[in-house]
Amino acid sequence: MELDIRPRRLRANPILRKMVRETRIDASSLIYPLFVTEGRQKKEAIRSMPGQYRYSVDGMGEKLTELAQAGVSAVMLFGITENKDEIGSSAYAQDGIVQRALFWAKREFPQMYFITDVCMCEYTSHGHCGILHGQDVDNDQTVESLAKIAVSHAQAGADMVAPSDMMDGRVRMLRHALDIHGYEQVPVMAYSAKFASSFYGPFREAAGSAPAFGDRKTYQMDFHNRREALKEIALDLAEGADIIMVKPAMAYGDLIREAKELSNVPVAAYSVSGEYAMVKAAAQADFIEEERMICELAACAYRAGTDLYITYFAQELAGYIKEGKIG
Ligand code: PBG
Repeated sequence: MELDIRPRRLRANPILRKMVRETRIDASSLIYPLFVTEGRQKKEAIRSMPGQYRYSVDGMGEKLTELAQAGVSAVMLFGITENKDEIGSSAYAQDGIVQRALFWAKREFPQMYFITDVCMCEYTSHGHCGILHGQDVDNDQTVESLAKIAVSHAQAGADMVAPSDMMDGRVRMLRHALDIHGYEQVPVMAYSAKFASSFYGPFREAAGSAPAFGDRKTYQMDFHNRREALKEIALDLAEGADIIMVKPAMAYGDLIREAKELSNVPVAAYSVSGEYAMVKAAAQADFIEEERMICELAACAYRAGTDLYITYFAQELAGYIKEGKIG
């Protein structure tokens, strides 16, 4: 057959395929979410996320060492505590779980980078991401607490803060609060387009943060909406976000791409607990090949345009990158 263009020519050999590859992945863009909990020498398995654990502060070292050896140098900390009340006050306590974890980890692992999730759902007795007024979360009161949390994380040594609450105006408030306390160099990574998603189910079991009543739909976004996501991203940029995030990652590639095109800041994608749990469950049943699936999901998030990839598979991915299985 006479053909001017034969796309298969560029797929004929592995060296050539790698040469013309459009998406390159580097372990320096991976961020590992780490659950830290009260107690001593603890490593509690999370039922809904096989292979993931809740570590006590003095038990985190093992995981941080493994990550560092694999080539992952950024961690996002999530605090898990029994110390809950109506207003989530332990979230900004000086001796709160994340604050203690930061004091310890910044001393023991000065070469690593610590980002903190700034939210209240792990600290409130009702499990909502803010302070309640009747049945709903009071936006403006919540934002003031979030600012207090962010400042307390910075005081404890956080390198970056990441508000995940989806309240209006929180990025501006956090930026302002950080600045007046002398933390103008601490970047804000905003969970900008965060959807009310069933993909968070396993996390809520891991963190004991499921809402006691109702759902999060008055603050997290409706997954039918695209333009609303662009509105949230534009607002966070205007409020001073240094990095914007799309969450979940899988099934939200269109928005990762749009976030990238809309902005001139780095874009992050969070491959959430439900994505992890689905891969693990299907692999355990022998329905899929785990390693190939992990690589494909990651490569597709980067292809969609993400610059940073937050994933429970960070350590595995760093290994696959080293072995040349991806990237
Ligand atoms: C806290 C928070 C959640 C996640 C990240 N930060 C849970 C939620 O919003 O319900 C989800 C992470 C995951 O599922 O891996 N608000």
